[in-house]
Amino acid sequence: MQPLEFSNGTVFSEGRHIYTISAAPGHRVYGERTPVVDGKEYREWNPNRSKLAAYIANGGKVLPIGKCSNVLYLGASSGTTPSHVSDMASEGKVYCVEFAPRMFRELVGNCSPRPNMMPILADATKPSEYQFVVGSADVVYEDVAQKNQADILADNMEVFGARYGMVAVKARSEDVAEAPKAVFRRAEERLKERGMRILDARSLEPFEDSHEMIVVEKA
Ligand SMILES: C[S@@+](CC[C@H](N)C(=O)[O-])C[C@H]1O[C@@H](n2cnc3c(N)ncnc32)[C@H](O)[C@@H]1O
Repeated sequence: MQPLEFSNGTVFSEGRHIYTISAAPGHRVYGERTPVVDGKEYREWNPNRSKLAAYIANGGKVLPIGKCSNVLYLGASSGTTPSHVSDMASEGKVYCVEFAPRMFRELVGNCSPRPNMMPILADATKPSEYQFVVGSADVVYEDVAQKNQADILADNMEVFGARYGMVAVKARSEDVAEAPKAVFRRAEERLKERGMRILDARSLEPFEDSHEMIVVEKA
């Protein structure tokens, strides 16, 4: 296993496969392979199941999540990608916001063996509802597949004082009729208007159709 240079020792690779070191050895989240190397349990991170892994597999090199990061994760679903973020931020916290009760129940189960992963049943468009639980965050990661994805990121970064943000923009959630590239440019422009510097913007194809990952820093 080789640490990916840009990842501050939080993500590893072997050939074309990507891994994180499990923060909850013995617990699988989505049937992932868990090879043990030198006494450490690694979890294979599947780019077909996670947009953050797809970003890395596509050459993304801006990864503002370190071992001690406090991450606010919007659109956690059952916790597939959040569990890898919890491996990466092993000495920090991952606040997982999800508003669908059925996904939330599965999320709670996947958070239970991971002391740094906290499930929050709330609407990501209303950060004031979970402000008292989260306090502050270093990074906001968003994957909510709904309208106004750029503003949801910017609003949460403002409320929680986050320096960095990542958003997996789904073009069809913004406008089914518009060309995806035009939707992505509009999201990037909106983030700039909201005081962000674009650090990277990268297509997630072929893993995810009509999605782009945008990584920003507060200017
Ligand atoms: C594409 S899935 C997320 C997958 C997850 N990020 C992963 O990689 O494992 C999008 C999730 O966002 C949730 N969602 C959509 N709008 C939301 C909102 N306004 N607040 C909280 N969750 C939301 C949906 O219920 C869904 O579970």
